[in-house]
Amino acid sequence: MKALIYNGPCDVSVQDVPEARIQMPTDVLVKITSTNICGSDLHMYEGRTSLEKGRIIGHENLGEVVAIGKAVTKVKIGDRVCLPFNVGCGFCDSCDQGKPNLCLTNNPAGAGAAYGYADAGPWQGGQAEFLQVPFGDFNCLILPEDAQEKENDYVMLADIWPTGHHAVVLSGLQPGESIVIYGAGPVGLMAAYSATLMGADQVFVVDEHPDRLKLAEQIGAIPIDFSKVVPPEVVNAMTGGNGADRGCECVGWQCHDPGHHHKSNERPELTLNNLVRSVKSGGGLGVVGLYESSDPNGDDELAKKGQIKFDMGLFFQKALTMGSGQANVKKYNRSLMRLINAGKAKPSFVVSHELPLSEAPNAYKHFDNRDEGWTKVILKPQT
Ligand SMILES: NC(=O)c1ccc[n+]([C@@H]2O[C@H](COP(=O)([O-])OP(=O)(O)OC[C@H]3O[C@@H](n4cnc5c(N)ncnc54)[C@H](O)[C@@H]3O)[C@@H](O)[C@H]2O)c1
Ligand SMILES: [Zn+2]
Ligand SMILES: [Zn+2]
Repeated sequence: MKALIYNGPCDVSVQDVPEARIQMPTDVLVKITSTNICGSDLHMYEGRTSLEKGRIIGHENLGEVVAIGKAVTKVKIGDRVCLPFNVGCGFCDSCDQGKPNLCLTNNPAGAGAAYGYADAGPWQGGQAEFLQVPFGDFNCLILPEDAQEKENDYVMLADIWPTGHHAVVLSGLQPGESIVIYGAGPVGLMAAYSATLMGADQVFVVDEHPDRLKLAEQIGAIPIDFSKVVPPEVVNAMTGGNGADRGCECVGWQCHDPGHHHKSNERPELTLNNLVRSVKSGGGLGVVGLYESSDPNGDDELAKKGQIKFDMGLFFQKALTMGSGQANVKKYNRSLMRLINAGKAKPSFVVSHELPLSEAPNAYKHFDNRDEGWTKVILKPQT
């Protein structure tokens, strides 16, 4: 089958590899019809993770079930399914407690597993024609009758919508409150979308890319361009001097000063400290942007160890709370699916490109540059 392979920093290619197959009685085999490129893939693409060469990337996957293992009882051949990026087992302590994002059995390196991801277990990615899905009955979200018609919406349930939603939930947002979101990449835009659906009063979105800020504005958020203004000053001025009630970090440790995204320009503490300065005393922060526990390619000694210069004093003085981590997709994907099915949500508004798998290397280049107009790419391996 054809699959997108990581060859090394900024080098991916579509290659012929052995076909994905059922290996365990609990496996499901999915013919992938939509698979997104994620901002998380870019950390690996840029060589900032320990991803092994030769691995298949891709954790935002949707497709049609074409084979099931002998022990699979719920999922049927022909079902259209969306796969949470987390690979859960369904029976460990974490899964039992409803936290499959911290599954204890699927990743020898620690809690939490994912498809096609560094340090997240042996699972191959779905930027390929087929994907082996372990513990299929547990991991497959079976989609309703409009699965094909709304495929570009449903595929956002694999990661970015539940992740953006999780950021807002972690922040503790209540209807009528204000929220500031750092990052207008796909995850930040989904956080803004969820905050709006959840009844936020003012939603501020901070980024420097006009195309991304425009999408934020289209869904009713207030765009803030950090290349032109100091975001905490603007947020504080627009919230009576107090700051927003809640805040979300949707950028991650590669956040940077204004200007082209480049390693020498990175300031891993920047968005977290801006959040501390722009959220009101007693408020909450939801951090879903990725922070690594080590980054050998980081700029300084702290960054190499996955540490940052965090404003702990002000954070404490303001009595803020913070939640973080990989999103628990399964906690939200079923209910968010219902909003798509009912015509009440259309998360595909972030999509700029639908491309065949053969175009993936070029798409990675553009998305990694955050080139104008490349807000979210869906790869279609069957076209
Ligand atoms: N926790 C999870 O489960 C989870 C899931 C998916 C993605 N992620 C992470 O979320 C982050 C965002 O993902 P994405 O797909 O939206 O990626 P992205 O890289 O496309 O978006 C990040 C955005 O942040 C902006 N940015 C950079 N520096 C900034 C700053 N100082 N202030 C404000 N904005 C700044 C960039 O211009 C860019 O538009 C990534 O770190 C990704 O790895 C986490
Ligand atoms: Zn993702
Ligand atoms: Zn588990």
